[in-house]
Amino acid sequence: MSGRSDRILVVDDQASMREFLEIMLTKEGYQVLAAEDGEQACGILDKETFDLVITDIRMRNINGIGVLKKAKDRSPETMVILISAFATPETAVEAMKEGAYDYIPKPFKINDLKRVVKDALTSRALPAEEGKGPRSRFHFDSLIGESPQMRKVYDLIQRVSRTRTNVLITGESGTGKELVAKSIHHLSDRRDKPIVVINCAGIPEPLIESELFGHRKGAFTGAVADKEGLFDVADGGTVFLDEVGELSPMIQVKLLRVIQERTFTAVGGIDVKTVDVRFISATNKDLEKEVIHNNFREDLYFRLNVIPIAVPPLREREGDLPLLAQHFLERFSLQMGKDIKKISTYAMDILSHYPFPGNVRELENIVERSVALETSNIVLPESLTLSTLRRGVEKKGRRMGDLGPEGIPLEKMMADVEREYLIQALDVAHGSKQRAAELLGITLRSFRYRLEKQGIAGGEDS
Ligand SMILES: Nc1ncnc2c1ncn2[C@@H]1O[C@H](COP(=O)(O)OP(=O)(O)OP(=O)(O)O)[C@@H](O)[C@H]1O
Ligand SMILES: [Mg+2]
Repeated sequence: MSGRSDRILVVDDQASMREFLEIMLTKEGYQVLAAEDGEQACGILDKETFDLVITDIRMRNINGIGVLKKAKDRSPETMVILISAFATPETAVEAMKEGAYDYIPKPFKINDLKRVVKDALTSRALPAEEGKGPRSRFHFDSLIGESPQMRKVYDLIQRVSRTRTNVLITGESGTGKELVAKSIHHLSDRRDKPIVVINCAGIPEPLIESELFGHRKGAFTGAVADKEGLFDVADGGTVFLDEVGELSPMIQVKLLRVIQERTFTAVGGIDVKTVDVRFISATNKDLEKEVIHNNFREDLYFRLNVIPIAVPPLREREGDLPLLAQHFLERFSLQMGKDIKKISTYAMDILSHYPFPGNVRELENIVERSVALETSNIVLPESLTLSTLRRGVEKKGRRMGDLGPEGIPLEKMMADVEREYLIQALDVAHGSKQRAAELLGITLRSFRYRLEKQGIAGGEDS
């Protein structure tokens, strides 16, 4: 097991960073030894083994890659984390190929570093878990996530799946409404019967009636034979009405009849068929508003919306982002025959500041693209589609005057903006705090204070 007595070797030729890491990690309860450069580190590694080595990349004589090779040579189980003051993707890629666990660019957040250290040591302690990823991911049916917000959804799914009550699922685009609908069906006693998905916006109006209820031969031009409708197929199972807000008034009436009387008639037919289905509907519209504006029948609305389930947007799910990202990473990695197992800390940090207007679907697409683009065995910031992400960060931080009815968390937004600029300034100033402070028009003292307040470490002291 990974314990607090894990041994860590810290290698950095910059005294301030070395001491900082030594103190911080010792406080965390690890046994820490420090080396002043690559050469000294290799000397120590000749005599002792460590659970983890944290090394700077750029050092005179033997650099971080050299230390990494030495550590892995000496004991392959030793985890190695590289730290670099300059964003040098090539070096990072090389490091990953040589078997580094992660690569952290300076400046970094103290909490990020603590987390990477912990993850590295945990994944070392659980070699049998390899392939399943570093953490065991919580899921409910096929839904990933363990945030309190999603747990509420799981709880509702569980409760309604035992009944045949109609359910209306609401939520922004890409939040997983269809997955929720399928989970309800899978967990219900209808699971051996079909769940028929009807995309109410996707079927052209003249066809929808015959699609739903079937038709008799000769009912209209082109009806050359009897045809079953989706309700015939769904008998005993579940009908999922996706984008239900798009239904035309005529179909709304016919649907109401199916729900109320559990009967329907094929187009051109006369015999009344009985059907037993449970209705699950989904919409990203505000159906209540549609009812007020007479675009949606009120009686149908109440019939469909016996139990409402609101699926929260991704940005409101606390802690689910890394779980979902890792899940998609493994899936696409496998599909594309690649060996990418991790998303780098810095890339994860960028993702965690993105508002995801397209929710889980957008995350899925971003991860898919980066797996396709990535050439190392870890997702680095360079392979994220940064332009969109950057725009998102700026939008979130800078869109002024756009308050909206739900208001904004002013303090947090201001802090996000500050953080973004502090990091950028350090980047541009190549780690010199003096220069970074000048770039922001503040004193060095004020700059240091703000760094500390935001929990950002790194940069050369000058
Ligand atoms: N909690 C989750 N765990 C794993 N995958 C998810 C989750 N939520 C959504 N997805 C995936 O994200 C994608 C979008 O989900 P889904 O189609 O269910 O969203 P939706 O709410 O119906 O979107 P739309 O309103 O655009 O139709 C799918 O590929 C789905 O598998
Ligand atoms: Mg959908």
